[in-house]
Amino acid sequence: MKNFYLTTPIYYVNDKPHIGHAYTTILADVIARFHRNAGDKVLFLTGLDEHGQKVQQAAKDRNIKPKEHCDDMAPSFLDLWEKLHINYDDFIRTTEKRHETVVKNILQKVYDSGDIYEDVYEGLYSVSEERFITDKEAESGEFRDIKKLKEKNYFFKMSNYQERLIDYIKSNPKFIQPEHRKNEVLGFLNQPLADLCISRPKTRLNWGIDLPFDSSYVTYVWFDALINYITAPGFNANNKKFDSYWPADYHLIGKDILTTHAVYWPTMLMSAELPLPKNIFAHGWWLSGESKMSKSLGNVVDPLDLIEEYGVDPVRYYLMREMVLGQDASFTLESFIKCYNSDLANDFGNLLSRVTNLLKKFFDSRIPLGEDQSIRGKAIKDGGIYAIERVWKLIYDMRVNEAIEEILKYIRSVNKYMEDMAPWKLVKTDINKAGEVLYNASEALRISSNLLKPIMPKRTLSVLKTLNAEKSNLEWGELNSGNKIKEHNQLFPRIDLKKNEKKLIQSQEKESDLVNVITFKEFLDIELKTGKVISAEKVDGAKKLLKLQVQVGSKERQIISGIAEYYSPDDLLGNLIVVVTNLKPAKIFGEESYGMLLAAKKGKDLKLITIDSDKVSSGMQIY
Ligand code: MSP
Repeated sequence: MKNFYLTTPIYYVNDKPHIGHAYTTILADVIARFHRNAGDKVLFLTGLDEHGQKVQQAAKDRNIKPKEHCDDMAPSFLDLWEKLHINYDDFIRTTEKRHETVVKNILQKVYDSGDIYEDVYEGLYSVSEERFITDKEAESGEFRDIKKLKEKNYFFKMSNYQERLIDYIKSNPKFIQPEHRKNEVLGFLNQPLADLCISRPKTRLNWGIDLPFDSSYVTYVWFDALINYITAPGFNANNKKFDSYWPADYHLIGKDILTTHAVYWPTMLMSAELPLPKNIFAHGWWLSGESKMSKSLGNVVDPLDLIEEYGVDPVRYYLMREMVLGQDASFTLESFIKCYNSDLANDFGNLLSRVTNLLKKFFDSRIPLGEDQSIRGKAIKDGGIYAIERVWKLIYDMRVNEAIEEILKYIRSVNKYMEDMAPWKLVKTDINKAGEVLYNASEALRISSNLLKPIMPKRTLSVLKTLNAEKSNLEWGELNSGNKIKEHNQLFPRIDLKKNEKKLIQSQEKESDLVNVITFKEFLDIELKTGKVISAEKVDGAKKLLKLQVQVGSKERQIISGIAEYYSPDDLLGNLIVVVTNLKPAKIFGEESYGMLLAAKKGKDLKLITIDSDKVSSGMQIY
């Protein structure tokens, strides 16, 4: 028996969990279940990252304490893990005392070894992004609230460990996986490594863990978050447990946090004189169709909706099956339904119903006596034994999608065997032979279900229960002849693609909405200002038009607007409205118009956007 320790990233507590978070956690759960089945003592850790500016701000907006805010948010992750049947061994929250103690301990250790120094940094700072940015970034127009900032902070001498890290990566080829990610990190380490800013003054951020050597600062983000991986197995608290699990076997992460895990974390551990994790595995991203999933694009896939509609196991199966090792994968409802129908309804579900129907009809619902020793029968037995070995090897290499493909290949070969042997015909001429064929097919079904168990724990359990083999092992020949099989529901009813078309269309509509997306810079190109209506009159001969004089700051401008059906001139006088001030002037009904008013319109209703003039004066810029 061996100890096996694997982790997911700890997720930002402020976020709503989506399919990307669900993927990593299911992947870890699947790997953990395989290892438990193989007899390993597993520590599977997941948790929440709860400090930082965003949490502090969100709590402030809600007028509550940050910890209270975290406590309110945490259940959305915990509930999802429960619904997804995630069997973690430890769930860590960075606001726990056990974590704070370890973070302080490591910071002190690194400080004492001379790897932390103070420095003043002066540069451009984006308030919205909470970080210093380069001049080039500032010019890109993608950052808001930029100001010059001069600040004293603490820095970790990451550069001290650059050479050692390069040597380590080169001499431990499995340390960073897959291979192309390792090369990415080595490429990054080709450049001189900058030191890492690890603090924030409390005047700016106080929702964090105090630096043990300067309590006017808190430690910033990564130094806090990464250390969770050693807190959980008991660093400095339970040495026996810690030594039996650390170094971790696997840190599972997404590709976006590769540098922090493959550069920051190992150098921190080197400085603290702790061994490095054995493997860091970076998977790709789930895209929504072809686009990146993001809240602002409104295309985030919510795993709860999917579970509710199609069940947990099919969702787990699809996510594991569809993402190829280390590459991005594209989520669409259509590919989900196609995968479900072909693998689960047609192949796996069909094998179960064929076998159980025949056993019921011709063998009094009992497992028949004897194995099929024919060449075809033996091929099914050998195929099962081979699949067990091969699947485990693939899982060991983190090639979960290939392992699933291997199982499916086996299931398809059993369906083919059934067609070739046609036991429903054989029963008429050679009932014993038909029984032997069905024994092999039932045994193959049991092996396949056991192999799929870590991926679909619930539904495979109902197959194993049907066969009276819940506790059976992954070895050929464990089904007991004479045992009665049980009734079962249809395991994977087909999903009608047509009936789901409406949902498909809705999701496509969401994507096509994105055609209108503009960049932040383009948005800034539109100049919006407040303006006060100082006179308004009808335009002669034009039923729909009003001629307005609008005061924008110190200047007056004339605007012709098609609002006469909705407002009389008197209604408008004195109102503070929103004007597009850099629109190309136009001649409307012979009158010059310098700008446009903003209004909300639906059907026959139109309302001008007006602003409370007590708080805002005319000529103010609107963002
Ligand atoms: N809190 C940090 C991690 C600290 S670990 C010491 C963090 N959190 S996160 O919630 O933003 O992201 C957690 C994980 O979700 C990352 O591994 C990230 O790659 C993953 N995913 C977020 N969106 C994703 C997809 N669309 N697809 C797949 N995984 C993605 O980063």
